[in-house]
Amino acid sequence: MTGGREGPAEEVARLASEALTLIANAADEAALRRVRQEVAGKSGLVSRLMALLAAAPRAEKPSIGQAVNRAKSEILAALEAREAAIGGTSASGGPSEDVTLPGRRLEPGCLHPLTVLEERVVSVLSALGFEATEGPEVEDEFHNFIALNIPPDHPARDEADNFYLEGVPHLLRSQTSTVQVRALETRTLPLRIIAPGRVFRPDEVDATHHFLFHQVEGLAVDADLSMADLKGTLLAFFRGLLGEEVQVRLRPSFFPFTEPSAEVDVRLEGRGWVEAGGCGMVDPAVFTAVGVDPERWSGFAFGLGLERLAMRHYGVADIRWFFENDLRFLRRLDGQRV
Ligand code: DAH
Repeated sequence: MTGGREGPAEEVARLASEALTLIANAADEAALRRVRQEVAGKSGLVSRLMALLAAAPRAEKPSIGQAVNRAKSEILAALEAREAAIGGTSASGGPSEDVTLPGRRLEPGCLHPLTVLEERVVSVLSALGFEATEGPEVEDEFHNFIALNIPPDHPARDEADNFYLEGVPHLLRSQTSTVQVRALETRTLPLRIIAPGRVFRPDEVDATHHFLFHQVEGLAVDADLSMADLKGTLLAFFRGLLGEEVQVRLRPSFFPFTEPSAEVDVRLEGRGWVEAGGCGMVDPAVFTAVGVDPERWSGFAFGLGLERLAMRHYGVADIRWFFENDLRFLRRLDGQRV
């Protein structure tokens, strides 16, 4: 442009860059407030841009209009960005924390009462020379029934009494005695093992029944074991678990995989007898099923129900409480001695 006068296009560019410089130089909130007035206020730079457009010759209106609009939105965007940046700085210095608010308490967790009991049972039996092992929760019929001398027509194999899997000859194990079979298959004799774990039966759920519960299985195989060894072991175990004053009694019973078989009852001083599980001498048919010579080896086995023991021991009225994860229940039993 000769003659020095700037045209409307140059003027737009000059006003825009003036505005952007002002915005960029505003150092704090107060300065920015003033700049906003200068830029976007009534007779500010943006208004002057609009006036330029209004005054532009008709032919130039479209191109000036475009330039003005671009400049205007650039300026307003810069203003907002700057406000956000300055506001952001002051926010991170932030409203100061209210130090009078109560602190956030750390809530330490605790072990489930059944876990505590199981660990105690395992530790006492380990001290008696039993090695802890485990088996799968999904079992085949051989380990859950056949090798345990439970014939096909036995009521324990009923569809309605087991969680059979669809389409495969497997089920959720209904007892931990399965692990006896697995131990006999894989280990060298003599042996002493225990197997704590979950078992599953489709029982109607009520205060004393659940479809899932815990057992601890024990198996000892050696030459010349007798019922005396079985009873002595159970007595030593329950004394170790519940105290010297505990009494243990065996009541004749029947299990397909032991002969003779018995129920184990325990009694603490001043209380009644509680059924704690089943036991007996390993039936020769079990040995034969896994290729162990019953003439050469003898064994005893036992299976204890953890929930029943825990209920009696901790005074728990309802088996369902073990599985509901109500913190009031779990906390109440936390730290109680087994
Ligand atoms: N498996 C039996 C049940 O679930 C308990 C049991 C009885 C286990 C006698 C044994 C045993 O090892 O010898 O009712």
